[in-house]
Amino acid sequence: MKPIRMGMIGLGHIPQNAHLPALSQLVEKGEVVLQAFCDVDRGIVSEQAKVWGAKSVYTDHREMFDKEELDGVYVCLPPTLHTDAELIAAEKGVALFVEKPQSLDMAQAVAFCEAINRAGIVSQVGFMSRYYPSSEYLKAMLETRIPRHALVQLFYSGRHIRYWTSRMALCGGSYVENTIHMIDLLRFFLGDIEAVSAFYFYRAEGEGPDPINLPYAYNVNYRFKSGVVANATTSRVLNVNYSRREVTVVADDALLEWSAQNVVLNGEEVKAWDSRPNAFALQTEAFVDAIRKGDRTAMRSSYGDALNSLAAVLGANASAERGGELVLLEDMVAGRVMWSSGEDI
Ligand SMILES: NC(=O)c1ccc[n+]([C@@H]2O[C@H](COP(=O)([O-])OP(=O)(O)OC[C@H]3O[C@@H](n4cnc5c(N)ncnc54)[C@H](O)[C@@H]3O)[C@@H](O)[C@H]2O)c1
Repeated sequence: MKPIRMGMIGLGHIPQNAHLPALSQLVEKGEVVLQAFCDVDRGIVSEQAKVWGAKSVYTDHREMFDKEELDGVYVCLPPTLHTDAELIAAEKGVALFVEKPQSLDMAQAVAFCEAINRAGIVSQVGFMSRYYPSSEYLKAMLETRIPRHALVQLFYSGRHIRYWTSRMALCGGSYVENTIHMIDLLRFFLGDIEAVSAFYFYRAEGEGPDPINLPYAYNVNYRFKSGVVANATTSRVLNVNYSRREVTVVADDALLEWSAQNVVLNGEEVKAWDSRPNAFALQTEAFVDAIRKGDRTAMRSSYGDALNSLAAVLGANASAERGGELVLLEDMVAGRVMWSSGEDI
């Protein structure tokens, strides 16, 4: 079996801690070769190439695409730094893995999506929560039920992590940067979202801790195409080392609670996994397998499918800026409604 030749653009936190440990297992089995790494920071790319055994290094992705024959590429960039890597990958027929959120600019994501669909390449957006066995299990439980109500509650600490994830204009807010995972998971369970209305508690200018200018709290209502209604709340208020995540789906006979390690039905655990499964590794295996088979339908979050998740969180930003006005996601995708990119908040 010929190994899949993999490229990587952006060698920061997430590839180092999630994708490369998973890919290196497949390198050991001879299924993948780390063909080329690219990061604008020469120090980072050289160091990471040494750690993981990449064959060549670049600081410009265009040069990488020109010189290398790749079967697949990971794009792991902060969401405001995407330029044309997705378009080049599509043009060259290279399978594409893009970290979430795909962009903070809906028009850019739609343009990338059109190029990806035209090219017919395998694509995957990094919604790894769909790969937890607990997600598959809960989804299967819903096959014989009619869900009608869902809830996501996330409570994060308000402390500073990194500059770009602390600034509204650079990450879109915690709701876009983090909660998107759980909104996408709800879509895995319940299908596409149609409409959104949101209220945010914005942080006043200079109300730290520096450099955070993200809202304190996000309260978002959704209507799914199926009629299911959902509420998703997120806060970034706590100044203690404690966070909590709750995901609940309600059907006529079942109050279902999801976590990465178990599923609870009407207060009783119905299934548990001993240690937290590595969803990143499962997602990586699925991506490599889809490339080998040339099966673009195999991925759980193709670029096209993931557009609805992106529109759902950017739509929440747009609604909150309009005082909670109802926003239709089709208007977000068509560019008839936009959010302000956080510049004025
Ligand atoms: N799935 C998850 O759970 C998860 C977790 C963390 C981050 N992410 C996502 O992954 C993406 C990357 O996040 P991160 O934490 O790795 O970011 P990071 O800031 O740690 O790393 C980004 C890297 O990109 C490099 N870079 C910037 N512009 C570049 C360009 N034009 N070409 C090549 N390299 C360039 C930077 O030098 C840096 O090394 C984000 O979209 C983030 O939301 C996903």
